Amino acid sequence: MSLPTGARPSIAPTREEALGFDRSDPLAGFRDRFVIPTGGPIYMDGNSLGRLPRATVERLRELTLTEWGGRLVEAWEDWIDLPIQVGDRLAALVGAGPGEVLACDSTSVNLYKLAGAVLDASPNRRVLVTDAANFPTDRYVLAGLARSHGVELRSFESDPVSGPSAADVAAAIDDDVALVCLSHVAFRSAALADMIGVTEAVHARGALVLWDLSHSVGAVPVDLNGCGADLAVGCTYKYLNGGPGAPAFLFVRGDLQDSLRPPIWGWFGHADQFAFEDSFRPASGIGRFQVGSPPIAGLAAAGVGADLVAEAGIAALRTKSILATEMMLALYDSTLAPLGVGLGSPRDPRERGSHLSFLHPGGLALSRWLRREAGVVVDFRPPDTIRVAVAPLYNTFAEAWDSVDAMSGGLAEGVHLGPPPAGRVT
Ligand SMILES: Cc1ncc(COP(=O)(O)O)c(C=O)c1O
Repeated sequence: MSLPTGARPSIAPTREEALGFDRSDPLAGFRDRFVIPTGGPIYMDGNSLGRLPRATVERLRELTLTEWGGRLVEAWEDWIDLPIQVGDRLAALVGAGPGEVLACDSTSVNLYKLAGAVLDASPNRRVLVTDAANFPTDRYVLAGLARSHGVELRSFESDPVSGPSAADVAAAIDDDVALVCLSHVAFRSAALADMIGVTEAVHARGALVLWDLSHSVGAVPVDLNGCGADLAVGCTYKYLNGGPGAPAFLFVRGDLQDSLRPPIWGWFGHADQFAFEDSFRPASGIGRFQVGSPPIAGLAAAGVGADLVAEAGIAALRTKSILATEMMLALYDSTLAPLGVGLGSPRDPRERGSHLSFLHPGGLALSRWLRREAGVVVDFRPPDTIRVAVAPLYNTFAEAWDSVDAMSGGLAEGVHLGPPPAGRVT
């Protein structure tokens, strides 16, 4: 590849040049490790649901036929530790240590468990803080907790493109704050938060910080312990390719674990699960954040996805993601901006994750036309945002090139002017 990191070409690359980037892409071989139907669409929605790894098909066959079908309940001997084992494999991707990450439940439920535990542990701090543009489930979960605990949920405004800054956070908090919850990569703009600066600002007020890593893990380097982060949650079905409904994960810094008691007391979090004691005694360590029977098939799939990312290496994935989004940005400047499309993501690649957001009032009609007619799967976030993601494990530079080309072709044809084709999921 010859496109240097951080140096967007002033003239957009040709399709031939994009094909040349693919020929010299050191990660190119990973594409064959996924199920990609011949003649299928260009898939630029890996930040919503990642593709199916071939190894997952094999792992699930073995799990269902040999383990479940053959060994039945005896297989729990091996399954019982999977949440912690898969957690350890995820920990290596987010700068956490062994025993600090647990694969379990959904991101929403994990957020509830961690934020609820913080509120219970800090009775003199009665405020939760988040960015008003944070992902809806994060805001809803915090609002529900605020209501049930009788505390305040304080939402602050941030720049819609560059996202919340450390200064925004510092201005929003005081000594009443128990927890600040932010996304590391913003779901709409892909803005990358300053994890070090925000964590320092939150700690300066004696509060804890919880990061949602759903749009970072597998695409962007994350160093939770290097930043002194306290807590985190994230999903495994985007850049980790764990599959629809695969369990999410939670991180609790090692020295905090035994001072936090999750609000859902389930038997999997008990210190001696199979003693069937009368009352709940939390396990020591990360295991206390488990609740009930883990979804074993989803956990196995999440483990395969994590291993693929680890094999490729986060640094190489990040390099390719930046190169491909920089190429798309150069194409945006030369073809989409003149057609009235706005840019909803930061221009500096160091300040964004692995997708680009393009803004257009006819975005819904355009995005549905792209899926249905042009064979390019992107997604739409109301009122006007089309997200185009580069999943560097399997997307090619040619696909990234063709996606922007299809958008400008559709706009030039006026497909955005008609009513949007019907559909429920955008
Ligand atoms: C930032 C973020 N957090 C949380 C979620 C939802 O998590 P879950 O459905 O696992 O609860 C999403 C889903 O896309 C997301 O983008």
